[in-house]
Amino acid sequence: MVSVSASAVSRSTERSAKLHAALGKGLDVQEELDLLDSGAQGRSIQKEIVQLGSAEVPLYVGEYWESKQRSSSSLHEVSYRACFKANLPRFFIELLTLPGERVYDPFAGRGTTLVEAALLGRTIAANDINPLSRILSEPRVSPPTQSEVASRLSEIFESTVSELPNSIDLSMFYHDETLKDMLHLRSYLWTRRESHAEDYIDKWIRMIATNRLTGHSPGFFSVYSLPPNQAVTADAQIKINEKLGQIPDRRDVQAIILKKSKSLLSDVSNQVRSLMEPVAHSAIWSNSDSRNTPDVPSSSISLVVTSPPFLDIVNYAADNWLRCWFNAIDIERIESQISVPRKISQWENVMRETMRELFRVLCDGGMVAFEVGEVRKGKVRLEEHVLPLGLEVGFVCEAIMINSQEFTKTANIWGVKNNLGGTNSNRIVIFRKPGD
Ligand SMILES: C[S@@+](CC[C@H](N)C(=O)[O-])C[C@H]1O[C@@H](n2cnc3c(N)ncnc32)[C@H](O)[C@@H]1O
Repeated sequence: MVSVSASAVSRSTERSAKLHAALGKGLDVQEELDLLDSGAQGRSIQKEIVQLGSAEVPLYVGEYWESKQRSSSSLHEVSYRACFKANLPRFFIELLTLPGERVYDPFAGRGTTLVEAALLGRTIAANDINPLSRILSEPRVSPPTQSEVASRLSEIFESTVSELPNSIDLSMFYHDETLKDMLHLRSYLWTRRESHAEDYIDKWIRMIATNRLTGHSPGFFSVYSLPPNQAVTADAQIKINEKLGQIPDRRDVQAIILKKSKSLLSDVSNQVRSLMEPVAHSAIWSNSDSRNTPDVPSSSISLVVTSPPFLDIVNYAADNWLRCWFNAIDIERIESQISVPRKISQWENVMRETMRELFRVLCDGGMVAFEVGEVRKGKVRLEEHVLPLGLEVGFVCEAIMINSQEFTKTANIWGVKNNLGGTNSNRIVIFRKPGD
């Protein structure tokens, strides 16, 4: 008889076992139903084996994490279209990685996965085709102190800078004096970036200003408008102003930045800073197409937690024109690169190549949690399209999970209808790269 010591269990086997234990809570379907029949409150899980093409895959439905926004760090409070909540990456990072292992998001967006991984002491790699992604993510892994921000802002507004030309009329959004301050800050940041002098404090200020450009409340630089992640066109803003009978009032750019900075830093203790410091030093920031990411080394990643662009639901370039203007980024170049395929076959082609690239960068036994949204009112189930793509490039599918805040035991869980159109549910395909 061969005895196997605990240390002989591979990381791959360990990850897989932990995943199924957490997803299934160790109960089979009958035990789950008994639990529900007993009227027990709290979390319950449903599990089915589903047949998709030639693959049989366990499907789990349950409430695996809380939906409350405030259950995560203040550092996440930055808006971005189609971002997920921090609880989602936290669930997988805690379950499937150890401190020091590298976590990657090839569609990083506002950097939810990376910020959460850094807060948990994991090494990180980020990629997004949109350069705004790094602008929004990197500073939150190296946060300055509030007093550093305050003194840098005073220095900036006391200094003279050579003006970066602006040819766009923004008078429908901003009071003249507000715009003057914004142009001054924009020119300062541009000069610092171009002369390679931009440091972590400048980057923090850039990130906040980029987030305060437009919004509903006096906490933004603009008159009442849509949030910064959905910037309206100048013409649409003129209509909003006419409808509301408003003209842009003076806003205090410095005070607005300071206030948001304070709120973002409210959960950042010294302990958090010292945990994140080494993570920031070894971080990889890539700005490539997800299909070809030469900055991310082969076999370097333990876990991918990501959500891809979903068909034509979000137009990242149109939503971000004002943010690109502020950061002197060429919007047309981005527009031509960001994939918003309208046909499922085109989307599949992009994702197949992305999967192939993920297979390259993952270490043996590494995992992918691939979150797909609810598309076209549930008529398109992207998880069914993702699964064969992953299998095709060599992954094993560990499970499909649906995190849903509300579901009933009577629903057929594969076609589960309740609540899945809302923002509270996530559909996730989990793959493993074979080997140890
Ligand atoms: C659904 S969002 C990701 C949001 C992210 N999970 C978060 O919480 O912020 C998808 C991201 O994919 C990026 N993207 C679209 N096409 C891409 C491509 N071909 N390669 C890399 N990134 C791409 C978009 O710029 C966008 O930031």
